[in-house]
Amino acid sequence: MATGLEIITDKDQMRKWSRSMRAQGKTIGLVPTMGYLHEGHISLIKVAQKHTNLIVVSIYVNPGQFSPSEDLSTYPSDFQGDIDKLKVLPVDVVFHPYNLYDYRDIESESKCNDPIRDSSGSESGDTGVVSCVEDKKLGHETWVRVERLEKGMCGKSRPVFFRGVATVVTKLFNIVEPDIAVFGKKDYQQWRIIRRMVRDLDFAVHVIGSEIVRDPDGLALSSRNVRLSPKEREKVCLLLLV
Ligand code: PAJ
Repeated sequence: MATGLEIITDKDQMRKWSRSMRAQGKTIGLVPTMGYLHEGHISLIKVAQKHTNLIVVSIYVNPGQFSPSEDLSTYPSDFQGDIDKLKVLPVDVVFHPYNLYDYRDIESESKCNDPIRDSSGSESGDTGVVSCVEDKKLGHETWVRVERLEKGMCGKSRPVFFRGVATVVTKLFNIVEPDIAVFGKKDYQQWRIIRRMVRDLDFAVHVIGSEIVRDPDGLALSSRNVRLSPKEREKVCLLLLV
């Protein structure tokens, strides 16, 4: 059983922790997530455990990868439940930043620094970043794009999704400075995009792809599955047989 799970919300503190561990010769594995953890996420932690001394799990619902019509404000979350699951695992740190797109001093601006709770305002459709980022003019304007791979499959219906994923993963890599990072092949295009980004931009991070974890009926575990009605679930499982 793991002991002493630390929760870090501040990015400077996160970086400081990683650097002090690396200075002691420890290796760090990162498992990026958006929380509402299930066995699919847990399997990534078990893979990371085989490769590194220390494990950081990030829990951050990234507004940059949701378009205005998507479910940012209703994305499922249960932070305490996540912590309860993680504290019995070999996880050393949960990195749970408040808003990775707010570059102001958080102390001086308390009103809108949670994009999850404050996503009701107008949106700038082509950027796909939610109101808290756009309306409050927090000034984020740098995006990472993996130009060819982001276009096909899911990228067709979600034109800003992979740009948001590549950007937040870049941020997480720069903050946590991990030696390895584990991604699920359930999100196959995402995994390929991150691998390509790491190669093309010379990140010193080894990206590992982990196998899909499924429920007994064949459906891949996903945080959003809680929204499926029994009928919808049945329909999806029938599609898996085709
Ligand atoms: P999230 O959907 O929370 O998934 C976090 C990681 O868990 C991803 O690498 C995903 O592929 C993996 N995962 C989810 N369900 C899985 C399953 N059934 N089997 C194996 N792996 C599974 O993917 C994201 O978050 C975000 O886009 C993120 C990478 C964190 C960037 O915001």
